[in-house]
Amino acid sequence: MGKQAKRETNAVVLKQAMLRRLPRRLQAKGELHFPAVPALLEHYVKILDLLWESIGRKFTPPELDEFRQSLSARLAQAHAASASAKVVVSYDCDPSPKTSITWKVVALAASMEEEYQHWVDTRTPPLFGKNADAKAVDVARSLGVPAEVSVLDVGAGTGRNSLPLAREGFAVDALEPAPALVKVLSEAAAAESLALGVVVGNVLDPALALPRASYRMLLLSEVVASHFRSTEQLRQLFETAARVLEPGGVIVLNAFLTDSGYKPDDFARQLSQVLWCALFTRRDFELALQGLPFERVADEPAADYEREHLPEGQYPSTGWFEGWSGGQDLFDLPADRAPMELRWLVYRKMS
Ligand SMILES: C[S@@+](CC[C@H](N)C(=O)[O-])C[C@H]1O[C@@H](n2cnc3c(N)ncnc32)[C@H](O)[C@@H]1O
Repeated sequence: MGKQAKRETNAVVLKQAMLRRLPRRLQAKGELHFPAVPALLEHYVKILDLLWESIGRKFTPPELDEFRQSLSARLAQAHAASASAKVVVSYDCDPSPKTSITWKVVALAASMEEEYQHWVDTRTPPLFGKNADAKAVDVARSLGVPAEVSVLDVGAGTGRNSLPLAREGFAVDALEPAPALVKVLSEAAAAESLALGVVVGNVLDPALALPRASYRMLLLSEVVASHFRSTEQLRQLFETAARVLEPGGVIVLNAFLTDSGYKPDDFARQLSQVLWCALFTRRDFELALQGLPFERVADEPAADYEREHLPEGQYPSTGWFEGWSGGQDLFDLPADRAPMELRWLVYRKMS
């Protein structure tokens, strides 16, 4: 008598065996847009590995490695281009009964200027809040009679600070790189016939040309905090400030500083930048200021200052300011638990 194979009759085993055939008829395709954070490479690989496994397309280790390498290269490319850039992974199941998948990874360049164009096209103004920063106005007033105080509002946006300062009589130039914001700002200034200089430009541009030879105040509100990406950029800013400030003039900025007990790694820094709350340490500021003629004259929590000094009913200026300034856009933690906060920093150029 010939040897008879033992047939499977276990219902659980049979069900699994049939489910393994389902991918021959299951079709899927999709597209995932990832922020360009190279430090998240393994996290992204895991997401795709699990997703593809769930539709019956489990990658072998060499297949996954090939995908990892491609993703890594595109992440590096997009990260270098801009904090707004994305990496897009698209996939499509090959035709039935194949159980393989075809995938593609591309870097999607998107500049900060394009992102602001989108804001102007889709959001309801005012884009950055309804009133000027109390700190900006208070420091400007402390520097002399308005007509004698020249202010360069760097990254002026739609003029949240420039316009009220110009109305008070300060000699304001607004520097702004995003054309869509420049347009809104220029139209608002023209509507009130305000004497406000508008310069289209980037403060980190070595060829930056400004209308005045020097200023008594440089203001960067929500600029370092939202868009700066390295200590080198901070250094460039302070070198420019040292060049264009009058002796005794001040640079006023807000930035996210980490608590001394927390050391942000690449992962935290890169993610903070794409989430518009760029982390800096006190050491970063020390390095950026090294050898330059500045003394620090203020260093305080921005939210506390604004809450205490804005006129009744004006704080907070936007619905997102409290959470953002407290670090909750980066850390999903209860209020006051994130190891960072937005601080007002003021440095005076020594004579
Ligand atoms: C969040 S908005 C704040 C706008 C305005 N300062 C305010 O507080 O309402 C950040 C602004 O910084 C500008 N910006 C970013 N990087 C800059 C740079 N390197 N030089 C000048 N402006 C910059 C952006 O275009 C944008 O207008």
